[in-house]
Formats: sequence, C-alpha cells, structure tokens
Amino acid sequence: MIRAAVTGACGRMGTLIIRNIFAAHDMELSAAFDIANIGMDVGEAIGSGQLGVAVYDPDDMEKVIKDSGTQVVIDFTIATASAVNVVRAASAGANMVVGTTGFNEAQMRQMRQAINDNGVAAVISPNFAVGVNVFWELLKEAAGKLDGFDVEIMEVHHNKKKDAPSGTAVKAAQVINDVLGGREYVYGRQGIASRGDEIGIHAVRGGDVVGDHTVMFFGDGERIEVRHQAHSRQAFARGAVMAAGWVMRQPAGVYGMADVLGLGK
Ligand SMILES: NC(=O)c1ccc[n+]([C@@H]2O[C@H](COP(=O)([O-])OP(=O)(O)OC[C@H]3O[C@@H](n4cnc5c(N)ncnc54)[C@H](O)[C@@H]3O)[C@@H](O)[C@H]2O)c1
Repeated sequence: MIRAAVTGACGRMGTLIIRNIFAAHDMELSAAFDIANIGMDVGEAIGSGQLGVAVYDPDDMEKVIKDSGTQVVIDFTIATASAVNVVRAASAGANMVVGTTGFNEAQMRQMRQAINDNGVAAVISPNFAVGVNVFWELLKEAAGKLDGFDVEIMEVHHNKKKDAPSGTAVKAAQVINDVLGGREYVYGRQGIASRGDEIGIHAVRGGDVVGDHTVMFFGDGERIEVRHQAHSRQAFARGAVMAAGWVMRQPAGVYGMADVLGLGK
C-alpha cells in the first residue's frame, strides 16, 4: 500500500483527491494538511464522514510525514504555499505530485533544487487531465504545420480561480513558442493595440466553469481551433492519483504528466 498525504486537503481539488485515494486499491491516506480545519478529522471537514485521519498544520509537515510513514505528498494549494510545502516534503524524503499553478521562476527553481538535493522524485504539472496532455501534443503539431498563422489562446474558468492566465494556458503558449520560437506574449488588449507577431493570451472568469482552453490559429481566409473542455475536476484528480502511484516507481528527478502517460516520446 502506498501511503499518500494531501496538502490543500479541504480545497476543491484536495477533497476530490482524498475521495480518489479511498477508492484506489493500492493507496491509503496517511495524512492531510491544510491551513483550515486543523485538528479536525479530514473526512468530517470535507463532508465524507469520519475517515480517521486528522488535518495537520503544514508547519509540522516534516514530522508528520516521518511519523505517518508518508511516501508521497499530493499538493494542490496556492503557489506561495506549495513552494514551501515542496521543500518540507522533499527534506522529509517524500516523493511528490504538484498540481498547484501560478508559480514564478524563483519558486520553480526553489522546488527543483529541493527535489534534486534530497534525491526524491516529483511530478509537477499545471494540468493532470489526460486530454489536456494530448491537447498540448496537438498544439505542437499544429504550430509546426501552420506557417505564418496568428495564434490566440483563450481560457475560461470559474469565478473563484485565483491565478490568471491559467497554468494550462501558459504551458500551451510555451509549447507553441518552443516550435515557433521567440514570440512575445500579449495578455489581453486595450486601447491602440495593433497585432504583431505575438501569441495573444486571454483569461475569462465566471460562474462554475471547471476549465476551457481554446487555441485559435488564424490564416488567410480560414482558421483552426483546438479546444479542451474539462467537464469535471475528476479528470484532474484521477490523473494526480495515477501520477502518485507512478512517481513511486521512478528514480529521483522532476517529471511532467506527459512522462506519466508516455506521451511525446
Ligand atoms: N494541475 C491540475 O490539474 C489542476 C487542476 C485544478 C486546479 N489546479 C490548481 O490547484 C490549486 C488548488 O485549486 P483548488 O480549486 O482546489 O483551490 P481551493 O482554493 O479550493 O483549495 C486550496 C486549499 O489549499 C489550502 N491551503 C492554503 N495554503 C495552504 C498551505 N500553506 N498548506 C496547506 N494547505 C493550504 C486552502 O485552505 C484550501 O483548502 C490551484 O493552484 C489551481 O489552479 C490544478
């Protein structure tokens, strides 16, 4: 049995991931961390009835990981918290799955260093849905074949999402730019804003949309749209729990969800 802990345990994603861990035959919940509901049974906190695992203060993470025999930590929190949680989990010798988005370069460097210095393995991905990882592969192919086309990315998310643009949209822009090279990113447009050679990125927020991403390639007299729509957070939670099982069998290092799925080889 793989012993997995969840940070951000009482959030939208954390709640679903805990339910997926309980449904898995090869994994059990070893600990839960959140800044809300500390000391409560996590099941009571997420409306699943008593689960016999408490919500711990993230400040005690290293001790709790060791005492509970946690082997892998799954983190869906916010970037500032996640960057610290990864250092704590790595120094306690746990492998990791990081789904949090909105990291800056310094936070990414700090996490990579902690993972490498402590010889643990981690999967870091702004999107754990299988379909989104295939969507990124399709974008690579389209960008390579649509010479001279204008590229615009639009994402739509629920009104509680904190970061913008989404990590998935940022990764879509990177994937396309890896093929096209050197394109500037323009985030929304206002005033005199004539189009150049940029990749336009637009974030729309409202209601309870789980996550839509559309990439538009515009040519003369035609356009192609590549779109992914998440109908349920279960697509992300399922992928994250799959990645937690996979990372336990890997040598130390930092991986993406494409590695878990064997894509892009
Ligand atoms: N990679 C993916 O597939 C994917 C999918 C969906 C969401 N996300 C990302 O996951 C993150 C969480 O999303 P959500 O919708 O569940 O948010 P949420 O706000 O519902 O949940 C976040 C939880 O983290 C807790 N938290 C805050 N600081 C903490 C800390 N220091 N230690 C432990 N817990 C802490 C909060 O109390 C909250 O319960 C966001 O960055 C979001 O963009 C990623």
